[in-house]
Amino acid sequence: MAHPDRFLLAGLMGWPVMHSRSPALHNYWFARHGLAGTYVPLAIRPEGLAAALKALAPLGFAGCNLTIPHKEAALALVDEVDAAAGRIGAANCIVVRPDGSLFASNTDVFGFIEGLVEADPSWRADAGPIVVIGAGGGSRAAVYSLAERGAREIRLLNRTAERAQALAAEFGVPITALPWSERHAALEGAAMLVNTTSQGMVGEPPLDLDLERLPQRALVADIVYIPRETPLLAAARARGNRTVNGLGMLLHQARPAWRAWFGIDPEVTPDLGALIEGTI
Ligand code: ATR
Repeated sequence: MAHPDRFLLAGLMGWPVMHSRSPALHNYWFARHGLAGTYVPLAIRPEGLAAALKALAPLGFAGCNLTIPHKEAALALVDEVDAAAGRIGAANCIVVRPDGSLFASNTDVFGFIEGLVEADPSWRADAGPIVVIGAGGGSRAAVYSLAERGAREIRLLNRTAERAQALAAEFGVPITALPWSERHAALEGAAMLVNTTSQGMVGEPPLDLDLERLPQRALVADIVYIPRETPLLAAARARGNRTVNGLGMLLHQARPAWRAWFGIDPEVTPDLGALIEGTI
């Protein structure tokens, strides 16, 4: 919680970390709330994570975010892990508690859902079958969020089928793992499609997916936000589907962190969206 006499400190631990938009995002809120504080990128090698986390409390950090490659490793290095982070197997937010102990949570879950609701206020997880492409870390957070929100059928497809099967077995109903070769056909009757793979990201080829069978009313979401419109989203928009990119998730995942660190629920304003978009 914010202390009036203290310079407020938080940061992002990653390796690499310098490409991140998070400092711009959090520092916008410090300015907006008139608070003396800063959010710094912390380039931490994997072998340095334990020492870096231990240093948060003595350095006066309220907490930090975690990105690649620390989200999974941190779970074993903190004092307590919340249920969602434990289930997903990844944490992206660390809070330094008053006694100096560390609490890890996963705010991507909140960010993912808020990004969808912001794009479509009438969005519901139980509106119909949801197709999720990918079975990595991004997929685990998305699938957990969707199941939490009441999704009744999640069709999970991954290039490496075993990973999708393992995730489905681990999370249980309502997930069905389908073979990669069925990804085009799996779109039949879907209310929503989510890409959680790196395909379509700048420097990567487009996701190899034919949208022909996807109903036009389906919402198409991509957790990628660089570029703002992936080839998948462009193709979906061209055929009349509503689309949402990963920017909303990036912005909204930061809100619960602020609540936990500083006792403030900061706003995702159009200004802030434009500021971050301008850096892409
Ligand atoms: P993250 O934790 O960011 O999700 P990840 O665990 O490496 O990263 O997962 C990346 C996802 O993108 C995986 O689902 C991966 O599929 P595999 O499990 O088969 O590797 C998917 N992916 C990566 N390259 C791909 C490609 N060329 N075609 C389809 N899927 C791909």
